[in-house]
Amino acid sequence: MVGTGRWVVTSAWPYINTVPHLGNLIGSVLSADVFARFLRMFGEDVIFVSGSDEHGTVIEVEARKKGIEPKELTDSAHEYVVKLWKAWNISFDNYTRTENEVHKKYVRDLMLKIYERGFISRKDQVIPYCPNDKIYLPDRFIEGTCPYCGFEGARGDQCDNCGRLLEPHDLINPRCVFCGSKPEFRLRTHWFFRLDLLEGKILEWVLNHDMLDANVKNFTISWIKTTGLAPRSVTRDNRWGIPAPFPNSEDKTIYVWFDALLGYISATIEYLAKQGRENEWVNYWFNGSAKTAYFIGKDNIPFHAVILPAMLIASGDPYNLPTIISATEYLMYEGKKFSKSRRVGVWIDEALKIVDNPDYWRYALIRMRPEDKDTNFRWVEFVRFVNNELNDHIGNYINRTLNLIYRFFNAQVPNISTLDDEDREMLDLIDRSWSDYVNLMSRARIKAASEAIVKLGERGNQYLNRKSPWFKIKEDVESVKTTLYVSFLNSVTIALMLTPITPYSAAKLLDMMGIEEVKLSFGDKPSKFIKENHRIKKPTPIFSKIPQELAEVLIDEEKREKYLERIREQVNLERPEVLRY
Ligand code: MF3
Ligand code: ZN
Repeated sequence: MVGTGRWVVTSAWPYINTVPHLGNLIGSVLSADVFARFLRMFGEDVIFVSGSDEHGTVIEVEARKKGIEPKELTDSAHEYVVKLWKAWNISFDNYTRTENEVHKKYVRDLMLKIYERGFISRKDQVIPYCPNDKIYLPDRFIEGTCPYCGFEGARGDQCDNCGRLLEPHDLINPRCVFCGSKPEFRLRTHWFFRLDLLEGKILEWVLNHDMLDANVKNFTISWIKTTGLAPRSVTRDNRWGIPAPFPNSEDKTIYVWFDALLGYISATIEYLAKQGRENEWVNYWFNGSAKTAYFIGKDNIPFHAVILPAMLIASGDPYNLPTIISATEYLMYEGKKFSKSRRVGVWIDEALKIVDNPDYWRYALIRMRPEDKDTNFRWVEFVRFVNNELNDHIGNYINRTLNLIYRFFNAQVPNISTLDDEDREMLDLIDRSWSDYVNLMSRARIKAASEAIVKLGERGNQYLNRKSPWFKIKEDVESVKTTLYVSFLNSVTIALMLTPITPYSAAKLLDMMGIEEVKLSFGDKPSKFIKENHRIKKPTPIFSKIPQELAEVLIDEEKREKYLERIREQVNLERPEVLRY
């Protein structure tokens, strides 16, 4: 049963004009990595892709401000971020960029196909133009009041308050974000994707989809039912981007979202082509031959639940529509919104300067994953997750268990002997927790699945303490055998569960436990790894606490701000010029 399923696992492509922060990380890349690693642990055939989202006005304007070409900016930023993914141990099969040739060709071809099939039409549109700054102000460079919810800071592409997609001319009281002046509206020809023609198909797909999370499903249904899907412009008057492929569209580029979304497919093609398997990409994208999972923040729902599936349907090719769309709510930072300009938050390069073991961050962030509601990153919680959960409940417990086996039984795991009620209860808990974990992870409920790990650690500790095998080794060796077998099985189970989340540490734990290769099938139990006369290696502690002095600084707001200021200065120097504060 190994390797029966094929998957494309994806994470939202980060805009490459900034370093991602912890909220970006948990919302997309880290969650996707954990899911990809989980699938691989079960022998699934996984291609995990993402890349840098390089085009669009934001980056064009930023480059202009710095007096460089956009490509110069994205080249160095991309290179830096690639290094950070390595440091975070993200297991991408292909982390590419929207400037790659395979991608640019794929986007033009697909858009043309959609055009030829009648899903693109041309229309004159009034585009805001700032007479003061002398530029067209597409999407995010115009702000005003949202016509749907009345929020005053809505952007021209989307309202951050209600999540609705907007067109610049929808805004009430529009203004230029650079200078605040009222824009002129000029008539320009643009090309529109006829979402209106695909509304029925999308609604039917969503209604019949039994794996879609409630937040994704509800958003989409309410969008369609309240306003319906209107045509959306796919071209922009920008120079930086993929040239539009339609007849007479020479001076336009493709709107960045339509470009980036197609990266999921082009990145798969590019990856397989590099291995000389160019024809195989259809095995990952056509005819239900594979599943696809998307990890995104909730502001990305309209694009992944509506626009991407609509493009795939419009192409007329038998593309697989999303199997899983896992959209996290927001991560807040100590009660505030992450903000680069106000320096609120922690960025992923800074984080590793504070605590250098990525496993500690990965663990804590998964424990805080905003799966059902907006969640706060709080330093006290971070310290608690690492020190109490990972180090005490999990690490110390496993270490104690292994030490006892090493000392009492000469490194050989004892066989189960007589069972009492407590033993049976513990075995039963291990069994149930493992299947809960597998079920939840399979649906990308990663934080919920992680609860099983903590529970096994806590309950395992209590079990070991109550059994106190150290007092019984002389007079009741049979019960000690059972206790240590059960504790060993529990430790193996925890280490397997940690494998996708804290890959370095879990691999060390498994190695110490004498488990060489982790190959599982769905339906397998962790006990399958305990062989006849199973031997372990000499145990050493794998986790350690965040040192007391550091923990004290991190949880005291005043001390922390001073400390973070120093970290930021240090990291700033290591960043490429274009990513500096
Ligand atoms: N760059 C976008 C963001 O950060 C995400 C793009 S996801 C993709 O919100 F699918 F379009 F690639
Ligand atoms: Zn709104």
